Amino acid sequence: MSAIQKIKGFADLFPEDSRAFTRMEDAARDIFGRYGFGELRIPVLERTELFAKGIGEDTDVVGKEMYTFTDRGGRSLTMRPEATAGALRAAIEAGAVEPGKATRLYAFGPMFRYERPQKGRMRQFHQIDAELLGSPEPHADVEVILMLRDYLEELGIGELAFELNSLGCRNCRPDYRAALTAYFEKLDAQQLCEDCRRRMHTNPLRVLDCKVPGCKALVADAPAIGQHLCGDCRSHFDAVLRLLDSSGLAYALNPRLVRGLDYYQRTTFEVTSGAIGAQTAVAGGGRYDGLVQLLGGPDAPGVGFACGMERLAMLMEKPEAKRPDFFLAVTDAREGGGAVDAAVLLAHKLRARQLVGECDYSAGSMKSRLRHAGRIKARKCYIIGPEEFDSGTVTIKDMDGGGQIQIERAAFD
Ligand code: HAM
Repeated sequence: MSAIQKIKGFADLFPEDSRAFTRMEDAARDIFGRYGFGELRIPVLERTELFAKGIGEDTDVVGKEMYTFTDRGGRSLTMRPEATAGALRAAIEAGAVEPGKATRLYAFGPMFRYERPQKGRMRQFHQIDAELLGSPEPHADVEVILMLRDYLEELGIGELAFELNSLGCRNCRPDYRAALTAYFEKLDAQQLCEDCRRRMHTNPLRVLDCKVPGCKALVADAPAIGQHLCGDCRSHFDAVLRLLDSSGLAYALNPRLVRGLDYYQRTTFEVTSGAIGAQTAVAGGGRYDGLVQLLGGPDAPGVGFACGMERLAMLMEKPEAKRPDFFLAVTDAREGGGAVDAAVLLAHKLRARQLVGECDYSAGSMKSRLRHAGRIKARKCYIIGPEEFDSGTVTIKDMDGGGQIQIERAAFD
């Protein structure tokens, strides 16, 4: 019988890989904690309407990529494709969002999108997500972007490009949408994909984000939002850029940066790397004023970002495993000798002294035991052979210096 295999686009992470994930989580707790963010843990499953409403029906994420099913109670549920909608749902439900009061939250975890798997693109992937709710000021955008920069720096990831844009607000967006629709109407609409022929009327910004090559080529000369920003959006964006300039962060303006989710208003940003193949975005985010209200909460603004952990892992140096303090080897193979029992009890006492290590469950030759201790890079090899067992001692061999001592096992009681 052949063994059951994992689902396409899903991955198993063994210790060599999950060490990088632990490092990313530890660094997030450290850096985000310095900015006053607290950890939020939210469910993987949410009602489908949360994402349909929050992310937008016309987006690829909602229209084509969600894992949606009906549960045994007849409810339509979806495995979260991102964390923002769920984080806001949780904060609204708990009464934690108030206009004028900053609420700072971050979350880690698996997200699910039915995309075509390739290098850096999975169907189950992991995000580190941060959301700052309640502050309309450009300073909030800047703090969030600087926190992301500090975080990536902490992970030792260099050579990243920060790109920024402003998508305007509900006052100036209609004007821009009209300009976009007029532009697409002048083109030969047959050249657009079927979805975009519809979107050019319902949600023309989505055409700018379409991944179909024909659509990509057609949007090259489309009008940019920059000329359509209202006074408030212009001054908000100018303030963000001015502060970022003073912070020393190097960034580029990208008028084509519309992001793949409908909730963005004003500032959007993305961090890309040329070193991870075709999927270059390692993090993305922006301001989403209006989303809290759309999801039934108060009129509180918000800004945040998410990093793709698999993509960060590709850019990070692989963290080394911590060297174990000991390997406890048993070389006393006498029938009923009890040396393995003694080893397990001694190892337990060593761990109570904060030492890290593993022990044998059966006796073997000294040569094979020392070889194993070397392979796992143990600092010391503790040996219980026939002589040690009978005399109530243990030999401790220093695997770096080579010296050894023999001491009483009772010394560890
Ligand atoms: P997003 O740009 O859709 O934004 O995703 C953020 C990051 O998740 C991407 O930059 C990428 O690194 C990673 N990612 C996305 N899809 C995949 C995939 N299929 N495989 C591997 N990695 C992937 C959001 O999700 C927003 N919720 C970010 C946000 C938070 N905006 C405001 N607050």
